[in-house]
Amino acid sequence: MRIAWAFTGAGHLLLESVEELEKLAREHKVTIMVSRAAEEVLRMYGLFERVKKLEGGYYRELVLERDEGFSFPITGRLSLGRYDLLIVSPATANTVAKIVHGIADTLVTNAVAQAGKGKVRTIILPVDLEEGEVETVIPSKLELSICRRCETCNAAAACPQDAIIPGVEIQLLKCIGCGNCQRVCPYGAVSGGSIITLHMRSVDVENTRRLESIEGVQVIKEPKEFWDHL
Ligand SMILES: Cc1cc2nc3c(=O)[nH]c(=O)nc-3n(C[C@H](O)[C@H](O)[C@H](O)COP(=O)(O)O)c2cc1C
Repeated sequence: MRIAWAFTGAGHLLLESVEELEKLAREHKVTIMVSRAAEEVLRMYGLFERVKKLEGGYYRELVLERDEGFSFPITGRLSLGRYDLLIVSPATANTVAKIVHGIADTLVTNAVAQAGKGKVRTIILPVDLEEGEVETVIPSKLELSICRRCETCNAAAACPQDAIIPGVEIQLLKCIGCGNCQRVCPYGAVSGGSIITLHMRSVDVENTRRLESIEGVQVIKEPKEFWDHL
């Protein structure tokens, strides 16, 4: 099968999505589409290189939104029906809101719109699924209550990206999630993969509900569920 897999900038269920994509890419031709935010967030969680490794030839491209101008020519393949399936996993609240309002001004929202026009089945995993609280993993974080503000900060010295301002913060846009900082800080002041609880907004949950009524779109709750729809 020819499949397009689109990432948006959600940290929630991101690792799980990458793991399923890796399995899928072993068996099928997968074009990977990455929103600008997804590119940043994949790096922060140390997952960008894993995704990049899956790139390899025609219909197995890694397509970055930042290389696709304002008109996203790659999505023409979807409007021409050249794919069997489009999977958007994970889908941010932002992308879901745009899709349900018919907006198509980003790589991923445009891919969904063109898939509809080309009758390509679309499976979406929205991260804001149900009312209530959701636990999610955050990228590396400098815990200021633990940081001893050492004269020489080992974590900052070990960072290949120069992303750490000692005693202040980790600049996430520079971070590539390598974890060096976590390993070398003698006081364990850098956390990685901490769990936080987020409250789901009703506007986002409502948008997810509306997604289910869009023609050709199926909503799933966890990344591995898409296998049932192949
Ligand atoms: C570390 C990190 C994690 C994020 N996780 C989420 C998330 O789980 N869900 C969400 O809706 N937005 C999340 N965001 C915010 C989105 O990246 C942001 O709304 C972005 O504009 C989405 O753009 P896109 O929908 O085009 O990918 C996260 C941002 C960062 C920096």
